[in-house]
Amino acid sequence: LVLSLQGGVQGPLHVAGVTTSKYFMPHLLGAFVRRYPGVRPSLLVINRAQVLQRLAENQDDLVIMGQVPQGLPVETFPFLDNSLVVVGWRNHPLAGRRNIPLRDLLQQRFLSRESGSGTRAAVDQAFRCEKLVLEPYMELGSSEAIKQAVIAGLGISVLSGRNIRPEVKQGLLQILDVAGFPLQRHWYAVYPKGKQLSQTAESFRNFLRTEGPAVLEQKPSGMDPPPAGSKRIK
Ligand code: PGA
Repeated sequence: LVLSLQGGVQGPLHVAGVTTSKYFMPHLLGAFVRRYPGVRPSLLVINRAQVLQRLAENQDDLVIMGQVPQGLPVETFPFLDNSLVVVGWRNHPLAGRRNIPLRDLLQQRFLSRESGSGTRAAVDQAFRCEKLVLEPYMELGSSEAIKQAVIAGLGISVLSGRNIRPEVKQGLLQILDVAGFPLQRHWYAVYPKGKQLSQTAESFRNFLRTEGPAVLEQKPSGMDPPPAGSKRIK
């Protein structure tokens, strides 16, 4: 009975996502698998250049990316807002300033993602639009490493606002009010044009659009609340 209720939504679901998606894709897959326990998901987390390569080779059911590819025939489904913000560490000297000109960031130690990263490309583009050239102080190959490096005071950077909410709440990171930021983007589910999606992949694509944002507002949804009267262990 369970299987007939699930229809054909079962079996493998191969997803490859840009590194910024690693903060939310596990939650979305978790919610999907709770509904369809017969699904066996895999999630590969890589940068934009590597995702583009896999997309061109049609290696996955779906890929998740922060900007639609140019020059590849693809279907694209936006499902989540992504605003890229400038972040500094706690009590950063620029933290109180409003509308900081982009050129002032050139005086700061700037931490950049590796080339091939979509975040890096978006940041470089923002500077190029102002006819500025950003010389990174340090390159790091992961958004999580950049987050930790900013917290550690190594420099400032640009990260997805959604992925730093807990640290901003805890006061470990501060969003800097820089002119032209946040950069407003989306995350998209993407696959080659004309590809025949499996029923599972199609169902997940629809789930991302119709339920993804709501699932993420409720995370961590897999955990039962502690019983009334129980103590929280710190
Ligand atoms: P990245 O891509 O993980 O390669 O930086 C993120 C994005 O394109 O939004």
